Amino acid sequence: MNYQQIGRTGVKVSPLCFGTMTFGDSADENTSAEIYQKVRDAGINFFDCANVYAGGQSEEILGNLMYGERDKLIITSKVHGAMSNDINDRGLSRRNIVKACEQSLKRLKTDYLDFYFLHQFDPEVPIEESLKALDDLVRHGMILYPAVSNWAAWQIAKAAGISAKQELARFELIQPMYNLLKRQAEVEILPMALSEEIGVVPYNPMGAGMLTGKYNSKNKPKDARITVNAMYAKRYSDASYLTTAKAFTKYAKEKGLEPAMLAVAWVKAHPAITAPIFGARKVEQLAAPLKALNYKMSQKMYTEIAALSPQPPLANDRSEER
Ligand SMILES: NC(=O)c1ccc[n+]([C@@H]2O[C@H](COP(=O)([O-])OP(=O)(O)OC[C@H]3O[C@@H](n4cnc5c(N)ncnc54)[C@H](OP(=O)(O)O)[C@@H]3O)[C@@H](O)[C@H]2O)c1
Repeated sequence: MNYQQIGRTGVKVSPLCFGTMTFGDSADENTSAEIYQKVRDAGINFFDCANVYAGGQSEEILGNLMYGERDKLIITSKVHGAMSNDINDRGLSRRNIVKACEQSLKRLKTDYLDFYFLHQFDPEVPIEESLKALDDLVRHGMILYPAVSNWAAWQIAKAAGISAKQELARFELIQPMYNLLKRQAEVEILPMALSEEIGVVPYNPMGAGMLTGKYNSKNKPKDARITVNAMYAKRYSDASYLTTAKAFTKYAKEKGLEPAMLAVAWVKAHPAITAPIFGARKVEQLAAPLKALNYKMSQKMYTEIAALSPQPPLANDRSEER
């Protein structure tokens, strides 16, 4: 296994992370157990979770499954989303960060999280308040490293400045959306992560299923997430995505490769990426993405696949000088 180091932390993880968002949701407890065992058998030691997944059930299920081998694993969770109707049971206040972390630890049946993500930006709370709360969690041993998801690069850079000035534990890991259809992270997040030596674990590497070859203009697979989940349907509704997905599937077939494997391998091949976080709701879905664990993509293939979707403009809009 070609273990990857997360940024400058020294923590080593498998080159793929398994995301447990389906546990307790589209994968029941038995299916989640089968999925967990299969990815563990493949050598994965890295699991992503969040308090909001299936209203806390994902953490409960993962906690049961990892019981007895927790110390062999790198485990994450997240805070921000509403866990109840209580007005304070959400967001990035010190109050909610500390309380949500205590609750995640209980559900996961562990006394520490390796990485703890702020799941979204909270415009109502000064960044400093959230960073100080995370720093206290580190000091109490409840989390080992602060991490951040879905923030803009300028927000992360602003946080880095505050952490450095006030000697607070900094964000060591970023979790953006990233795949061949959603390439915004290439503009600022990925170059920043390389420059600052911050790990990157992107979600949706298979475009939530869109890049597995099963969607086309006539076919909307029954029960699949982009068919049944309105938010995902909207996220992947741009007509150009279907065109790219079709071209990508054709490319994969010409090379004799499975699109699901190739989609994950392409994300993994970017130099800023530590480990893509992939998901599944059925054990049969695992075989293809797991092949990306040991797949080494050539530079030629990487470039050919990148050419199948538009590259986002540079942050300074001067691509003509490149
Ligand atoms: N930070 C955040 O805001 C955020 C957001 C989303 C996800 N995440 C994390 O990232 C993880 C992965 O996200 P994701 O599940 O969206 O990523 P993904 O790997 O792009 O998509 C996984 C989905 O694609 C479909 N699929 C997987 N393998 C397939 C195969 N071989 N053939 C056909 N379809 C297949 C399945 O959905 P269907 O069967 O339903 O089509 C599966 O649930 C999540 O579990 C979570 O931990 C984080």
